[in-house]
Amino acid sequence: MTEAVELFGPAAEDLSKVEAQLRQEIQHDPPEVAEAMADLFDAGGKRIRPALVLLAAMCGTYHAERVLPAAMAVELTHAATLVHDDVIDRSPTRRRRPTVAAKLGDEPAIVIGDYYFAKAYELAARTGVPEVVDILARAVMKICAGEVRQQAIRYRYSTGVDEYLRRIEAKTATLLAACCDIGALLGGLDEARRTALRSYGLQVGLAFQIADDVLDYTATEHEVGKPIGHDILEGFATLPLMLASIRLDDNRRLSEDEARKVVEAVRNSDGPQRALAQARDHANAARENLGALDGSDAANALSSLADYVVSRKL
Ligand code: IPE
Ligand code: IPE
Ligand code: MG
Ligand code: MG
Repeated sequence: MTEAVELFGPAAEDLSKVEAQLRQEIQHDPPEVAEAMADLFDAGGKRIRPALVLLAAMCGTYHAERVLPAAMAVELTHAATLVHDDVIDRSPTRRRRPTVAAKLGDEPAIVIGDYYFAKAYELAARTGVPEVVDILARAVMKICAGEVRQQAIRYRYSTGVDEYLRRIEAKTATLLAACCDIGALLGGLDEARRTALRSYGLQVGLAFQIADDVLDYTATEHEVGKPIGHDILEGFATLPLMLASIRLDDNRRLSEDEARKVVEAVRNSDGPQRALAQARDHANAARENLGALDGSDAANALSSLADYVVSRKL
């Protein structure tokens, strides 16, 4: 809780309500789907997305009864994308535990993910504000389109930075922007401040995914709770590799040994550092949007969060 207060400032208290209510919600789901989701949820997670909803709403007039279901909806959306992402990425671990797919197989994992996407919309509808459902639905549509595009460039290591940025915007930044947009909407902010928060979320999302892609090269599995060096093994070139100027032949899967050597070469290059510098640029661009929000505690917490997503080790 102390850490949460440091990281999420005025949202920490209601974030623990979101946690407790989500646990209860999942308990009421059929055990076939609930057990796997309860396990993923118990394993932790940073809860950045619900925190963004709460903090954005706190920049305006805060109505907990509408904001809490929206915060639950975005965390469930995130969890559902993780369950599906681990199928696509063939990933054995998540949050230091076996993935749903590793435990139950791909087919149950796909349907469990589907269930929780649907449940997320149901929770979004509980806000009583149809536009929340609209924002969330459009975000998920973009994420899915991004995932499909990402499949088309799998094993094409020569794709460039522009393509990379489009990809991470679709798959990650879109949801963080939607979280801020939903919070701003529920907080009753005017159009200008809502747009500012949306751009903040988008830039934080880009910074967040670049940092994730750096951690895939520089962290340990113990720290991040998911495999390291996994992106290149699964055929995805990310920014640290691109900036390390390492050339690989397209259209073939690397062996584990080859992938290990690429990871070593990227670690020994300035690719990770240069990628983190770009992440910091996005975090700074994010912060520039907060000027319109009059230095409230919530705006200050959003400002610190922009730093955290780049400096984090998890
Ligand atoms: C992981 O997201 C997926 C990405 C978009 C990189 P998080 O790093 O927020 O995952 P948890 O929820 O904290 O486990
Ligand atoms: C995030 O990308 C994909 C999602 C939007 C869920 P990654 O594939 O890099 O996420 P991790 O590293 O598996 O958490
Ligand atoms: Mg993945
Ligand atoms: Mg990753």
